[in-house]
Formats: sequence, structure tokens, C-alpha cells
Amino acid sequence: MDTQIRILVVCQNKGGDGKSTLTRLVAEFASRNQLRVLLIDMDPQCNLSKRFLAMETRGGLGAAIPPVHPDYVEGADDWDGRSSIADAFTGRINKYGLAPYPTPDEHIDILPGSGQEMREAELVRREEVLEKIVEQLRVLLHSPDMAELYDLVVIDTPPAKSPLVQSAIRAATHMVIPTQMAQQSIEGLHEMILQWRIENRNRPAAEQLQLIGVLPNKCRPVAIQTGLRDALGKDKALAPFLIPMKIGERTVFAEADHPDAQPKSVFDLPTSDKARQEATAACSYILHRMQFPVEAPAVAAEPMTEWVDHE
Ligand SMILES: Nc1ncnc2c1ncn2[C@@H]1O[C@H](COP(=O)(O)OP(=O)(O)O)[C@@H](O)[C@H]1O
Ligand SMILES: [Mg+2]
Repeated sequence: MDTQIRILVVCQNKGGDGKSTLTRLVAEFASRNQLRVLLIDMDPQCNLSKRFLAMETRGGLGAAIPPVHPDYVEGADDWDGRSSIADAFTGRINKYGLAPYPTPDEHIDILPGSGQEMREAELVRREEVLEKIVEQLRVLLHSPDMAELYDLVVIDTPPAKSPLVQSAIRAATHMVIPTQMAQQSIEGLHEMILQWRIENRNRPAAEQLQLIGVLPNKCRPVAIQTGLRDALGKDKALAPFLIPMKIGERTVFAEADHPDAQPKSVFDLPTSDKARQEATAACSYILHRMQFPVEAPAVAAEPMTEWVDHE
């Protein structure tokens, strides 16, 4: 297979706009296209990790920690048997190495988060330490080992402007921004696009971070949303980045969040299902833009007035 690893960062500094949902959808869709996927959960809340692993909790505040790794043999070495992406930021990774967890999906592995350590990393302000954190993920992911194991890495991020998000952006080859059609979310977009531009100033021409675009999520055909969508289409700074499709607000997307969800994935729904169709269009658009051999989506932009919810 291809030796060039492709790394997608899913970001938006506003919470609840669909980062974790889109991360999961892209991974599931890529898996169904026979791509080997590594998920990385950079959010201290560990929502994505909880969806794929039986995360445990530690301490009075209930910070999430990963379960014991299936490859761990008790007493065999000095590893405590748990592995998280936080290890990359605490230096622990140099001692134990990187140990992604398998998930029920045979093509998807995950490096889960670890709540407490990641919250600490987010608070780092000392210049030298900060720069190390920001560089760390890039160094780890752009190793020949990673390219051997995975075709695609998808990084879920916390809703903040933090060192962890910066690290994810620094590591990425591609970036996608899910957004709700709501005033606060749209204000967040300007900030994200600025971050993208700043990142590219420091990169050589051949290694520019590709902005796939802004994906409207949780859309409903109500006047306030259609109005914002129209305004967005006319905004000179944002319009060029608008992905020509959307994901509606549909119960199945929220339901699929639950670990016991049936079906396990919206891609297991009948092909006639609207949620499946939207997710397929958005994910094939993203993977196609990343130059994976998936068919380009057939669906063109739908006028917002036709965003009829079929529920
Ligand atoms: N298109 C959608 N339709 C319905 N619910 C959605 C949709 N996208 C996300 N959600 C739900 O909204 C909540 C926030 O989404 P999430 O992906 O966790 O956002 P973020 O990771 O950006 O904070 C979750 O409960 C999720 O299930
Ligand atoms: Mg999230």
C-alpha cells in the first residue's frame, strides 16, 4: 500500500458541533473502504475513546483512563498495561512506546485519551515545554512505522485553543471543520481558518496543511439556519471553504454515539436511509479530497430550502 500516511485533524473550537461524531463517521467509512485507520482522541473528555473502548475512571473527579491493553501480560515487564496518547506529552511514551488498542472494527485502532494527564498538558504555558508538546504528535505520526501500519490517522480534538489542538494541527496533513449553523459556531470558524493560515506560514510549500473545508452539521430547515447558511455563502472569507453538502440533525447520529447502539454504525442502515446517504456523501467527499481511492460523491450541493428532515 501507499507509504505516505495521511492525517486528518477534525477541529472546531466550539463544543458540540460534531467533531467526535464526524471523526467516528470518517473512520467507519474508511474502514468499509478497506483503509487501515488509527483514531487519536486528543480531548481530555475522552468521548471518542468511550465509544470504542471500555474506559475506566480514576480519582474523585472521575477522569477517564484507558483499560488494560489486551497485549499486556502481567508481570512480564515494567509496563503498567495502559496506553494513551497522553503518554506522548508526559514523556512516558519513550519508556513504553506507542500501543494503540484494537477496536471491534478490525480496520480501526485507537489511541485513547487519558483525562487527567491531558488536562495537565492543556495547562502548560512554559515556552520550551509548550513547543515540545506542539511538535510531539508530528514527530510520532510521521515515522516509517506508522506509515507501515496505517493508511489514515483521524485526530479528534477538544473544543479549545490549546496546546493539544495545536499539536494535532501541526501533525496533520488535512483539516476539516464541522460546524452547526449557529452564530457562535460560525464565529469560531474565522478563528479556525486563521489557525490554518498561521500553521501554513511555517510549512514548506510541499507540506502545506490542506483545508478540506467546513462541513455544516446538525442542520435543520428552519429560517435561522437557512439564513446563516446563505450569509455564509456570501462571506468572502468563509464561502470558498464551504463543503457543498451537509449533515442533518437526525436522531440516529446521536443514538449511534451509544456503545450499545444498534445498528453499530449509520453505514449499517439501509442504503435508502437519509442519515446513511448524508454520511456517505460527506465522508466520500473528505476521503476523495485526501486522494484515497474512493468514488467521488454523486450528490451536489442541495439548496438549503430542500433540507427536509425525514424523521
Ligand atoms: N447530525 C447530528 N444529528 C443529531 N445529533 C448529532 C449530530 N451530530 C452530533 N450530534 C450529537 O450532538 C452531540 C455533540 O456532538 P459531538 O460530535 O460530541 O460534538 P463535539 O465532539 O464537537 O463536541 C453528541 O451527543 C452527538 O451525538
Ligand atoms: Mg468531542
